[in-house]
Amino acid sequence: MISKNMAKALLGGSKIRKMFEEGNRLKQIYGPENVFDFSIGNPDLEPPVEVKEALKEIASADIPGIHGYMSNNGYETTRAAIAKKRSEESGLDIDASAVCMTVGAAAAMNDVLHSLLDPEDEVIVLAPYFMEYNGYIANHNGKVVICDTDEKFIPHVEDIAAKITDRTKAVIINSPNNPSGVVYSEQFLSELNSVLKSADHTIHVISDEPYIDLAYDGITVPCALKFIDNLIICFSWSKSLSLPGERIGYTLVSPKNEDYNDLTAAITISNRTLGSVNAPAIWQRVIEKSLYAKVDVSNYEKRRNMLYSNIVDAGFDAVKPQGALYIFMNTPEGLTDDEFADICHEENLLIVGGGSFAKPGYARLAFCVSETTIVNSRKAFFAVAEKLGIEHRSSL
Ligand SMILES: Cc1ncc(COP(=O)(O)O)c(C=O)c1O
Repeated sequence: MISKNMAKALLGGSKIRKMFEEGNRLKQIYGPENVFDFSIGNPDLEPPVEVKEALKEIASADIPGIHGYMSNNGYETTRAAIAKKRSEESGLDIDASAVCMTVGAAAAMNDVLHSLLDPEDEVIVLAPYFMEYNGYIANHNGKVVICDTDEKFIPHVEDIAAKITDRTKAVIINSPNNPSGVVYSEQFLSELNSVLKSADHTIHVISDEPYIDLAYDGITVPCALKFIDNLIICFSWSKSLSLPGERIGYTLVSPKNEDYNDLTAAITISNRTLGSVNAPAIWQRVIEKSLYAKVDVSNYEKRRNMLYSNIVDAGFDAVKPQGALYIFMNTPEGLTDDEFADICHEENLLIVGGGSFAKPGYARLAFCVSETTIVNSRKAFFAVAEKLGIEHRSSL
C-alpha cells in the first residue's frame, strides 16, 4: 500500500500535466495546427548555438574521468564561473563555495527546503505562485502560508509582515513570476529585506529565478543579491537556455547570509541524500562554456505581444506580463475557472485555471508556442468571447 501522503497527491494530480496530455490527444484528432495548447511552459525556442557547440565539443573530447562521480556540489571550475558572473551582476564578492550545482530549480528548491525546515516550520508564498512549491514544502514537513498580492499581482510587505510567526523560516519569491509575469521592484526587495531583518529570528528569502533572463520591453530584472541579505537563489537553465529536459541549475547562498557556512554545507549534503548525488556532469561542463549565452528573447516578446492582443482584442482582460513565459488573464465574471476552461476547450483552446496557482478568477496561458499557433488561435478567442456575449475590442 502506498503512503497516505502519496495517495492524496495522486487524487490531486497536476491539472497542468493533464492538460498537456489532453493537448496531445486533441492534436492527433484535429491536427496540430488546429489545437491551441497554451497549457505548459515548455520553451519551444532551440537552445543557443553556443550551447550546442559546447555539447558537441565536450562529447567528442577525450577527457579522462568525465563520467565519474565528483564533489556533491559539482565541478569547482563551473561553480567558480557562476560565482564570478553573479559577483559581476551584484557587486558582491561571491566565492565558488556559495554555489551547489543541482538537477534544475526543482531539485534546488528541495535541497534548500530540506536544509532549512524542521517539521511544522512555515514558508510564506506569494499568490499566485507555482503550485509545485506545495509539494516541495510538504516533502520536508513544512507548512505553506499563502500571502495574497494586489490586483496587479504586486506583493506588499505589510501583508507579508502580517503572516510572519515564530515558525516562519522562509519566504519564497519568484520574479519574473510564474504565472503572472510580474517583475518585483527594487523597492519591494529592499522593503522585504528590512521587514525580515526586523523579525526576532532569521528568515531566509528563497529567490526562485528560472525566468530571470526572460524580461521584455527593455526592463532589467532587479538583482535580489543587491537588496536581500539572507538570500538563497535557486536558478535553472530550463527556461533561459531552453534546456528543461537536461535538468541543470544551481543554488547560491548570498555571502551576506547569516547562516552562510551551515547552509552551503547543508545544501551540499541534501543534494546527495535527496537522491541527485550531483548535477549532470556533461551539462555542468556545457554550462561553464556557454554561461553568457542567451536565447533571443525578442522571439518571446513578439509572442507575448501577439497573444496579449488576441486576448484583449477579443474582449478579455489581462495584466501585460513584463517577463517569464505566461499571461495570467482574468476569467470572465460569473464563471468559475473550470467553466471557463471548458468553454475554451470546446474551441480547442487549452488553458490552466488560476486555482492551479492559488488564485482563482484567472487563467494562465503559456506563450512559448509557435507563432503559427498564436496566429491560428485568434479565432478561438473571438469564438469564446462570442459564446459568452463579450464584446470584441477589435475586429478578427
Ligand atoms: C517558478 C518555477 N520554479 C521552478 C520550476 C522548476 O524548474 P526546473 O525545470 O528547473 O526544475 C519551474 C518550472 O516550470 C517554475 O515555473
